[in-house]
Amino acid sequence: MTKKVYIETMGCQMNKSDTERMLGMLSHFNYEETKIQEDADLLMVNTCSIRQLSEDKAFSQLGVWGKWKKDNKPDLKIGICGCVAQQKARKVFSRAPYVDFVLGTHKIYSLPDVIRRINAGERVCECEETNLATANEKGYPINRVKSTNAWINITEGCNNFCTYCIVPYTRGRERSRLPEVIIKEVKDALADGFKEITLLGQNVDSYGKDFKDKNYRLAQLLRDINAIEGNFRIRFVTSYPTDITDELIETARDLDKVCEYFHIPMQSGSSRVLKAMNRRYDRETYAKIVEKVRKMIPDVTITSDFIAGFPGETEEEFVETLTAIDEFELDYSNVAAYSPREKTVAAKWTDKFIPEDIKDERFQRLNLKVQENCLKSNLKYVGREMEVLVENFYEHKGKMINTGKTRNFKTVHIPCDKDLTGQFINVKISGAKTWYLKGKIL
Ligand code: SAH
Ligand code: SF4
Ligand code: F3S
Repeated sequence: MTKKVYIETMGCQMNKSDTERMLGMLSHFNYEETKIQEDADLLMVNTCSIRQLSEDKAFSQLGVWGKWKKDNKPDLKIGICGCVAQQKARKVFSRAPYVDFVLGTHKIYSLPDVIRRINAGERVCECEETNLATANEKGYPINRVKSTNAWINITEGCNNFCTYCIVPYTRGRERSRLPEVIIKEVKDALADGFKEITLLGQNVDSYGKDFKDKNYRLAQLLRDINAIEGNFRIRFVTSYPTDITDELIETARDLDKVCEYFHIPMQSGSSRVLKAMNRRYDRETYAKIVEKVRKMIPDVTITSDFIAGFPGETEEEFVETLTAIDEFELDYSNVAAYSPREKTVAAKWTDKFIPEDIKDERFQRLNLKVQENCLKSNLKYVGREMEVLVENFYEHKGKMINTGKTRNFKTVHIPCDKDLTGQFINVKISGAKTWYLKGKIL
């Protein structure tokens, strides 16, 4: 008999990608996805712990479901997976006793076994760490979200231990997936109609460093994927600044399917703060890397991440972040206010914590700077001809609009009555707003 599963996914693309894999496994064992929580036999929350707020959100979601179970659905099964699960393991049971299973990020491939055990009445915690990347995968189907872009992870985990970041504790050491496994996933996604492949990892430019038996790095992977027949685009995120090699930039420039887009988080514009964050570069080094990428790849879009209010950050140091965004002409940046995380080094520097109101004020100023630069960057493209891969078609204020992305990751809105989703079309850019460009079909 088919049962129904609902998964609430929080956090980054890694978690979204894990959800696609878990839904694939579950479908193999007769669980069908439902988008309606009330209809589900199995409810799961795929959690993120990057900030305290995301962790709190996970427990409040569990609380709601726990109440349903207690009040009138005793047979309901509830599970927690993702980064909070990996980090808290058994401790989840004391905080949320109605939870049937805790499944860490290292163990997603034991999900079928976990489901069998909870259905037999057991309470299960599977959170042991593993050093394996692909060896424990079992070739289950992947239920990818319907879209033009397929996310394919190439590395798991991270070795960098930035002092603010919990990811090395929730995702473990860096492990590269085998090239043949990745290439098969790319071919499957293309056969399913996907038009864009985004290679995913915390630090994609260190891909392959852990292979003992071969010298096979990201540039080689890009070459092998580019050689696959068909009209599609290739992207890769996230790049750690000092792991970007000349070979990688040249390869990205020379391969026709690889797009002109780099996501290179800087985190702070101040060399002193960068050092305290344990980032392995200073402001000048970052500047040189960005300059090199811009010089070698015309029209490249470079995006970044920044943290406001890191412990000990002075007003002057914060201003260095604002000036970095201007000086390096960063096209867009994700920004966050610093949130202390359990186990991390910086969380112990309580005497240097920045008061919430100052952190918040810096966060707002950072947002304004990002908006200003985004518009500036978009204005450069007015009058230009660009190729757009259409991703969506919808009605807006009585008009039909296609939206999609250029090769260099700019969003374009194209008024047109025909649904062009999945097509590559050439447009002339007729205007620029903060978050998107306007285009006319040529
Ligand atoms: N591997 C990527 C980032 C992964 S986490 C890199 O090295 O850049 C995504 C982003 O979350 C980070 O870039 C950082 O800006 C933010 N972040 C991580 N830990 C944080 C914390 N404790 N408080 C606030 N923001 C944080
Ligand atoms: Fe976190 Fe740093 Fe690793 Fe990125 S590189 S995931 S910020 S520890
Ligand atoms: Fe991603 Fe959040 Fe985990 S950002 S890796 S889901 S802590």
